[in-house]
Amino acid sequence: MAQYSYHEPVLAPEIIALLVTKPGIYVDGTLGGGGHSLAILCALHEAGYGEGSLLIGIDQDDAALHEAAEKLKEFEARTVLVKGNFKTIGSIVESVCREKGLHPKVTGILLDLGVSSFQIDTAERGFSYLRDGPLDMRMDMDASVSAGDIINTYEEKELARLFYRYGEEPRSRSIARAIVAYRLKNGSVTGTEELAGIIRENAAGRDKIIKTLSRVFQALRIEVNSELEVLRSVLYDGIACLDSYGRMAVISYHSLEDRIVKTVFAEKARSDWGPKGVGLREPLERGSVSLVTRKPVVAARQEIDANPRARSAKLRVIEKI
Ligand SMILES: C[S@@+](CC[C@H](N)C(=O)[O-])C[C@H]1O[C@@H](n2cnc3c(N)ncnc32)[C@H](O)[C@@H]1O
Repeated sequence: MAQYSYHEPVLAPEIIALLVTKPGIYVDGTLGGGGHSLAILCALHEAGYGEGSLLIGIDQDDAALHEAAEKLKEFEARTVLVKGNFKTIGSIVESVCREKGLHPKVTGILLDLGVSSFQIDTAERGFSYLRDGPLDMRMDMDASVSAGDIINTYEEKELARLFYRYGEEPRSRSIARAIVAYRLKNGSVTGTEELAGIIRENAAGRDKIIKTLSRVFQALRIEVNSELEVLRSVLYDGIACLDSYGRMAVISYHSLEDRIVKTVFAEKARSDWGPKGVGLREPLERGSVSLVTRKPVVAARQEIDANPRARSAKLRVIEKI
């Protein structure tokens, strides 16, 4: 497979095997550098499905769209790239299909959650405690709220709740207290290195510093981009867009995301048998999807060695009934 410097796609062969089963409309809701999209388009082409297929790539980050457009050039005629949030997947699919005269039902949807390596490695985007940059963390640079707005305006209690809820950080309260004290003394917290310094001073011990830094930065990123709310909505709306036997594959990278994916998939797969003890022969309502993966697919040792980002990846797939 080709080399990707912008972002190495995770679990790519597994995605192809589980998602690309027939020709049709595929949506990559997290286009990034286009690594997964390229793999999907190549697989469709190699299977002889290219003619009857279209890939809709969505990303809220202009830099990602730019990178992906370059990478997918050879498949330009079968690709539509859209700047937008995947929470509006329904209306994006509707409008692309209307323009192309296609029936707006989708054969495959991929969501590879979180941020790309490129976004993390770009200091000016402010995603990493390892690089000094502004407290930004917006995936969509047109969005109004940045990490700096949150760090500098939230009350102590709100900050503590945020670090606990979205970072599962045990020292959430003392870190929130230290941030507010720093603000009172210095006016504001302006950069990632400044914030990392406050967190370092308040982490429980040297060995815990990295974990605490990751958890607090993760919490902020989730809040800035409303990541859990938009995930919940794209799961429901994505399933609604799927054609019969269409599939949705989701790669998550932390337990908060995976819990939502697992719960929504299980809920949509469950049939309603009415109150206990009624003994119906047929359910009142059948589940609308089946679970293709009962347990999440994880990366093999070889992939993890080559790409450490794959370590925490969990892939779940459902099929519309
Ligand atoms: C992990 S990267 C995807 C990498 C991609 N699979 C590849 O192979 O290059 C996630 C991408 O999804 C985008 N993204 C995350 N949440 C999004 C959302 N709610 N709507 C649109 N794009 C989103 C990010 O901007 C980022 O470019």
